[in-house]
Amino acid sequence: MADYKFPGKWMKNDMVLGENVYPETLFKLESFDMNEEDVLIVSYPKTGTTWTQELIWLICNNGDIAKARSTPIYLRVPHLESRNNAHDLAQKATPHLMKTHLRIETFRSQIEAGKVKIIVVIRNPKDTLVSLYHFYRMNRNLGKFTGTWDDFFELYKANHMFYGNYFKWYSSWLQYKDKPNVILVKYEDMHRRMPDVIKNVCHFLGKSLPDDVIDDVIQHLTFDNMTHNDMVNYENIPQLDTKISPFLRRGIIGDWKNYFTEEQSSLVDKSYKEIIESFNVKLIFE
Ligand code: A3P
Repeated sequence: MADYKFPGKWMKNDMVLGENVYPETLFKLESFDMNEEDVLIVSYPKTGTTWTQELIWLICNNGDIAKARSTPIYLRVPHLESRNNAHDLAQKATPHLMKTHLRIETFRSQIEAGKVKIIVVIRNPKDTLVSLYHFYRMNRNLGKFTGTWDDFFELYKANHMFYGNYFKWYSSWLQYKDKPNVILVKYEDMHRRMPDVIKNVCHFLGKSLPDDVIDDVIQHLTFDNMTHNDMVNYENIPQLDTKISPFLRRGIIGDWKNYFTEEQSSLVDKSYKEIIESFNVKLIFE
């Protein structure tokens, strides 16, 4: 894989960013003025961002499934650093609902001033890396990666990852996890205890949904239903080759066991213990 070259055209600190992140947008973001009612979903790529976006949008919109089924998720919850989204959002009335894969640096002063509600999504790093491997294979913006899982893991070891290293990414955001305007949502909890996740997020956002609406939302969010829903499955995005790998690929906990060698697993375990557990965060790996 020596010839594989990540096509990211812009570096932010040591993060390699994708093709649709414009330098001008990043500069503008530093002064994007957020509001106390704004909600920012922050996630490392492939940790369940889309799933969380759909959930949070529904909570903020009284569980309006009909509307969710008629507008693509990237329009309802724009990717802040992508294209001109930040500029477009700034023209719209608050509250803004948005997502970012950037580390905290760009937003630190606004978060410290309690200006925005932050939802940090986290998934176990091994399943995240496997999902990212398939994303490299199917996303034409990431340079048509055709290597094996072992080749991909070498890129990880060389610290040459989309949006930077997973552990460095979380060591930036997890510093803020106990602030009152920050909540942590775990992918594995969404799998195992979605009703509790919904309750916690509603409480955090000061929203409530009737029980029957919650039941409909949970049903709408199942992996099976999302894979058949064109508003969230990214099937019609030209730069994503879903014949190579679907965007909603397997949606399970533990796929990493089909990929990791013992040595690769120990390497990730070491960083997990040193970094994630040092923030008192425990994730499910089974
Ligand atoms: P896999 O590749 O392991 O299947 P992101 O939205 O951050 O890019 O994350 C994508 C990952 O979240 C994919 O993981 C995808 O299948 C998973 N995902 C999305 N919706 C899901 C759902 N409803 N249930 C379970 N997993 C889901």
